[in-house]
Amino acid sequence: MRDNNLAIEVDDVSVSFRHSSSSLMSFKKNTFDALSNISIAVQAGSRLGIVGESGSGKTTLAKTILGLYQPATGTIGFNHGVQQNKDIQFIFQDPLAALNPRMTVEQLITEPLDYLGVKPDHATRTKKLKTIMEQVGLDYSQRQRYAHEFSGGQCQRIGIARAMITEPKILICDEPVSALDVSVRAQIISLLKEFQQRLDLTLIFIAHDLSLVRYISDELIVLYQGKLMEMGPSEEIFSHARHPYTQALISAEPRPDPDTERQRHYAEYGEIETADTKLDGCVYAGRCTYAQSRCHIEAPKLQQVGETVQVACFFPLEAVTSV
Ligand SMILES: Nc1ncnc2c1ncn2[C@@H]1O[C@H](COP(=O)(O)OP(=O)(O)O)[C@@H](O)[C@H]1O
Ligand code: SF4
Ligand SMILES: [Mg+2]
Repeated sequence: MRDNNLAIEVDDVSVSFRHSSSSLMSFKKNTFDALSNISIAVQAGSRLGIVGESGSGKTTLAKTILGLYQPATGTIGFNHGVQQNKDIQFIFQDPLAALNPRMTVEQLITEPLDYLGVKPDHATRTKKLKTIMEQVGLDYSQRQRYAHEFSGGQCQRIGIARAMITEPKILICDEPVSALDVSVRAQIISLLKEFQQRLDLTLIFIAHDLSLVRYISDELIVLYQGKLMEMGPSEEIFSHARHPYTQALISAEPRPDPDTERQRHYAEYGEIETADTKLDGCVYAGRCTYAQSRCHIEAPKLQQVGETVQVACFFPLEAVTSV
């Protein structure tokens, strides 16, 4: 890793999956790239937002950083202090589904200490449990209960406690509040922000609700069909999106249900194309109101626009100046 202030360096990473619909008789290539040539540098202690509609590759990127998927090409590097199997924790979208129904809250929260080989003595374990339950706003007297006895918001607090008890350096949150009632979303986000600031965590926050990402991230990347469309400081992008897709995401009404969004996406645009049927142009050209003939024959590369933003578009949008 070139820069010691970086916690994570994703360098030209592509991830391919086998197409479930492909048959042995098919002459088409039966893999597709869920991520293509992604390069991002995440500063230690910073908060990176990842946005993009369903199927854009957000979870694949998170899981590849976690080491759950192997990149087909490219590398993922960590700062010297970070070990991929120990210092990175993950918070899932559906808190109840992520928690073993046969384990008590106490077992759920302290289990990661065991599989990371921390093995604290009984007194230290109890102290850690008590402290973390208080920090996430759970009542210590409820430690012998099971996850199904708690609300969605409380289950996500258990998920956060489980992640934070190991004192990770990097926390990846994959749509952590999408499955929760709107009324508790802000509380969970505030809790994550509190941990991030107190512990100087490197936070990766994935969402399709842009208003949440704006609140919690310093830097932002925008993915579309596994490709980077735009990246730079969040406020800069929110106040002036240069990529037509980012502009569309920001101006769109939030869609409440990611599954509906996925179905809508496939109904409207079909499955992601396999590599051999794909045209060479910009991946967004079919939906872009600004597309010109060049966009259909050539793929734009990420280019620097202004001092801090990079955009994969031949015709980045100008700032709207008020008169
Ligand atoms: N394990 C997998 N096997 C095959 N295809 C997958 C797998 N995981 C994700 N995909 C596909 O890769 C694409 C990106 O998925 P994903 O990373 O889950 O997107 P997002 O999190 O942005 O909704 C989708 O087309 C999805 O169907
Ligand atoms: S390159 Fe062309 S099609 Fe692609 S986003 Fe820019 S203007 Fe639209
Ligand atoms: Mg996802």
